[in-house]
Amino acid sequence: MTHRRDDVPVEGGLVAEVAQMTEAELAQHEAEVAEAVAPDREIQVEVGETLLELRDVTLRFGGLTALDSVSFGIRRGEILGLIGPNGAGKTTCFNAMTGVYRPSGGQVLLEDRPLGKASRHKITRLGIARTFQNIRLFGEMTALENVVVGADARNRTSVVGALLRLPRHHREERTAVERAMALLEFVGIADRAADKAKNLPYGYQRRLEIARALATEPKLLCLDEPAAGFNPAEKEELMELIRKIRSDGYTVLLIEHDMRLVMGVTDRIVVLEFGKKIAEGLPAEIRENPAVIAAYLGVPEDDAA
Ligand SMILES: Nc1ncnc2c1ncn2[C@@H]1O[C@H](COP(=O)(O)OP(=O)(O)O)[C@@H](O)[C@H]1O
Ligand SMILES: [Mg+2]
Repeated sequence: MTHRRDDVPVEGGLVAEVAQMTEAELAQHEAEVAEAVAPDREIQVEVGETLLELRDVTLRFGGLTALDSVSFGIRRGEILGLIGPNGAGKTTCFNAMTGVYRPSGGQVLLEDRPLGKASRHKITRLGIARTFQNIRLFGEMTALENVVVGADARNRTSVVGALLRLPRHHREERTAVERAMALLEFVGIADRAADKAKNLPYGYQRRLEIARALATEPKLLCLDEPAAGFNPAEKEELMELIRKIRSDGYTVLLIEHDMRLVMGVTDRIVVLEFGKKIAEGLPAEIRENPAVIAAYLGVPEDDAA
């Protein structure tokens, strides 16, 4: 991760201090940051029971069946890869899980409860957060503000409370800023906390999206091609961050086009092609699977690598 510690915009902030630390102090500090990032969350890194389940999910756009009776489960604490050629239905899967589109058939269940007609906002509060294939940030807001806004989904004070400046709102604001700062540090971009999102380098924007999603304290974090447009070194750094996110107790669903990348970081993989699930298994099994190999034949070598 390329920290730009020489151009620190955060006044007397965490970054300047971190730069002075020994390795041992740094390890201790990182543990404290992880604690600050999610003080109330139940940490569970053992791969456990099913957290989210798609049961025969079908989604049609007019005459096009983007998802055709797709079923798979995501277990608590795992990194599940969702792969497949362009147009296979990966992003549509996220949209069906997060309430952007309602399945034409089948069900999405979170902790055994059907999401049904829950709104996007409700689904965020229930614990599913996502990033977007095309970055969506508030460009005119600072990095820090973008994360604070993300955390708002969890705040209990109403808009009315904010307008009336109730004491609890003040408290939440301070904690929200502290937590947001810790999250920026967690994803490795705290040195640019005060910069407008639109002025951040592309790689920082991708990390900022992840920080903002984490700010909602999700049970499940869904990443839609988070490494798109990265060079190999940046991709490797991002995979490192995803491992760190998982070892901090999150469950991760990762859409990724680059096969090699997915093999290196996931516990299990689900493969879609033309809206159908064509395979599911361990990375080593998926790599050998004839249907998967066939699905990826004919796509540019760069993507299939
Ligand atoms: N809102 C939409 N309206 C119509 N067709 C869509 C819409 N969203 C996605 N599709 C179509 O659904 C299929 C799956 O798309 P998508 O889920 O984005 O694929 P992937 O993310 O795997 O590349 C594609 O054929 C795409 O054109
Ligand atoms: Mg997509």
